[in-house]
Amino acid sequence: MLTDLLSLGETAPADISRILTLAAGLKKDLQRGKTSRPLAGKTLVMIFEKSSTRTRLSFEIGMYQLGGQAIFLSPRDIQLGRGETIEDTARVLSRYAHGIMIRTFAHETVEAAARAADIPVINGLSDKHHPCQVLADLMTLKEKKGRLKGLKLAYVGDGNNMAHSLLEGCAGTGVSIAVAAPKGYEPDDAVVAGARKTARGTGARVLLTSDPVEAVRGAHAVYTDVWTSMGQEDEAAQRRRAFAGYQVNAALLTAARPDAVVMHCLPAHRGEEITADVLDGSRSVVLDQAENRLHAQKAVLLLLMGRAFQGKTRRSR
Ligand code: CP
Ligand code: NVA
Repeated sequence: MLTDLLSLGETAPADISRILTLAAGLKKDLQRGKTSRPLAGKTLVMIFEKSSTRTRLSFEIGMYQLGGQAIFLSPRDIQLGRGETIEDTARVLSRYAHGIMIRTFAHETVEAAARAADIPVINGLSDKHHPCQVLADLMTLKEKKGRLKGLKLAYVGDGNNMAHSLLEGCAGTGVSIAVAAPKGYEPDDAVVAGARKTARGTGARVLLTSDPVEAVRGAHAVYTDVWTSMGQEDEAAQRRRAFAGYQVNAALLTAARPDAVVMHCLPAHRGEEITADVLDGSRSVVLDQAENRLHAQKAVLLLLMGRAFQGKTRRSR
């Protein structure tokens, strides 16, 4: 039973699949103009310690479409920025709102909020995980390929939050994943071990390599992300050197399947991790990924804040 969405490693494969099915239905309803207000009277409080375009808008518009309300807060607006603890903040919010979404630096901040809150907490990106993005990515992949089980996704670049959530999300849905990262920038060992364990149950394979061509060979999807994530700006020059051979470009794509799709969570840096011709080319599904953030997150909001939600912990809501 889903009570928070902190990472996909902590989300049961059955819950991931429920979210994806519900999301596809919500997308169809929206396209047909079918409306309902299942979250009327409910509020999602969103705390953003880092910038955002997609996450902020898709949660805010998603709550609006479900009949509820979303409140955006930056640390400047609330006492969190003046030293009030995340635990106290989460306890107070639990007395007003029905859900909390947090985008922050240390993943421990999201975990601490989830422990302290009586209401569901959703990770809108931490330094370690970006589960909401990967739910939208899996939804996109399923739309494009008609299935998930048996596909192969190659991730080329930094072993960062995106790599971690893709490892966990692919493993949970039976998608084999190959990660190509340079030495010193590999994904976290514990995340890889967890993904391998999950993969044993779903039939997926998990490969780690430093060779982008090996990762991309035979892939149905080729994914990349920025070389310098939010908060790492001081390392940008050093990272550009370390990742120089890890660009997703037309030459690398010749190793993938001819019908492979190109994926990126955005924002992208054309000419760094991906060339403009590939990002803007016919195989790119990046705008579908961005759109599906809305539908996948509406599914998460419904499961965590809707009538069927059975409550979280101590206090009944
Ligand atoms: N992909 C993603 O999370 O985008 P934002 O940083 O714009 O929210
Ligand atoms: N790895 C990137 C993802 C942005 C959506 C970052 O953390 O900045």
